[in-house]
Amino acid sequence: MAAGKQKWSFVVAANRLPVRRVWEGDTAQWVPSPGGLVSALRPVMSGNPDAVWAGWTGVPGPGTEPFEVDGFQCHPVGVSQGELQLFYEGFSNATLWPLFHDALVPPEYHRTWWDAYRTVNQRYAATVADLAAPGATVWIHDYHLLLVPGLLRAARPDLRIGFFLHIPFPARELYIRLPWRAEIIDGLLGADLIGLQTPLGADNFCRAVNRITGAKTTGRVIQHNGRTSQAGAFPIGIDTDRIAGLAADPAVQARAAEIHETLGSPRTVLLGVDRLDYTKGIEVRLRAFRELLAEGRLSVDDCVLVQIAEPSRSQVTGYAEVRREVEQMVGDVNGNFGVMGRPVVHYLHQSQPIEELVAMYLIADIMLVTPLRDGMNLVAKEYVASRPDNTGVLVLSEFTGAAQELRTAELINPHDIESLKTAMEAAAHRTGADTVPAMRAMRRVVRSNTAQRWAERFLARLEACE
Ligand code: G6P
Repeated sequence: MAAGKQKWSFVVAANRLPVRRVWEGDTAQWVPSPGGLVSALRPVMSGNPDAVWAGWTGVPGPGTEPFEVDGFQCHPVGVSQGELQLFYEGFSNATLWPLFHDALVPPEYHRTWWDAYRTVNQRYAATVADLAAPGATVWIHDYHLLLVPGLLRAARPDLRIGFFLHIPFPARELYIRLPWRAEIIDGLLGADLIGLQTPLGADNFCRAVNRITGAKTTGRVIQHNGRTSQAGAFPIGIDTDRIAGLAADPAVQARAAEIHETLGSPRTVLLGVDRLDYTKGIEVRLRAFRELLAEGRLSVDDCVLVQIAEPSRSQVTGYAEVRREVEQMVGDVNGNFGVMGRPVVHYLHQSQPIEELVAMYLIADIMLVTPLRDGMNLVAKEYVASRPDNTGVLVLSEFTGAAQELRTAELINPHDIESLKTAMEAAAHRTGADTVPAMRAMRRVVRSNTAQRWAERFLARLEACE
């Protein structure tokens, strides 16, 4: 069914639609995207005749006709080639992304980027204003759309508006560098409820609001311009049942055994799975691994590191550089420590289907999640959900949102290479049985805070907003 001129009582807006284009030969079709947000919203959106999702198809050009995939009603929002460069690659991913990730690469501030960001946000707000039925609930997602709540509130004061930020909200001292800091805070305060991944994120946001607007904040309730907004921590989860189901699937288990054999049946498999992004600390773990091999603390006779790096934002500053650095290190480790026909690092710069990732989680004795900064990190949770025998070690950066919940992981500071090396070496020498209590505790957390429960909790709080 096409969305047409119908009005909807539940509208989701995000930079990307919940679908991606897949080509088979000459024919293309839309398939549901993998990823946390789509899983989280499936129960409230798929098959719901009153719900629609507005977003970009991932292909530059004008917005196309609405369509339906897998029960999701999709309403495309057009983003031109020029806007792709200024709004998406520019302001979203070369200004906001680095600034909100502790300025790991220097954020760039360009007025032309900001103008395009405002234009695209206005288009989203106008689209949602047009789609929403009187009194509808709207849920806006992530850093691409920070102005939409305020623009929408001005056009449609009748709506209930929620916003969720999937990435960290930085410390106030960093946030206030942004030339458009006041406009963005005003944009966010158009929402009734502003969700962040962690309590620290929520506190950072309230401190920034306080400094910039002088608004009265009591706890996380903010009074500004005669309106009340609330901020809160809502750590996102994963579709635990789906991941656990795949881990129990005989075909996935057979694939896991096959991969293990292909790797030379090593005693210890270390695994990293990331988008190829400078926030993820991929080079940090490779450096630690190289030093452990050089010092004889790990041996190529029984260890293999598998690194999956999904291609990402290759046109954006910082990404090509981290790719060069990672690939140079992979070459360096294999060149110095590999054996003919048996590399010690297996590196794939390709995205992998979830079945293949779960097969890898099943054989990973040690999962390396070492970001310098990360809003949550769902890979850490997927690994935990894929370990039905309760074994395995998760080496987890303290600077991820996930570290707030997975307290029994091996928590490390990725800036402290010696602590990372110590954690990796200790993990490699542990037996499966040693790892059970910590893994069991993490599995309880991941089972109790699923993606679906996250959405339910956020929406229940949004409905309760005055
Ligand atoms: C992060 C962001 C998401 C984004 C994803 C992939 O997880 O929080 O909003 O969709 O990265 O990045 P991309 O630029 O490909 O959408």
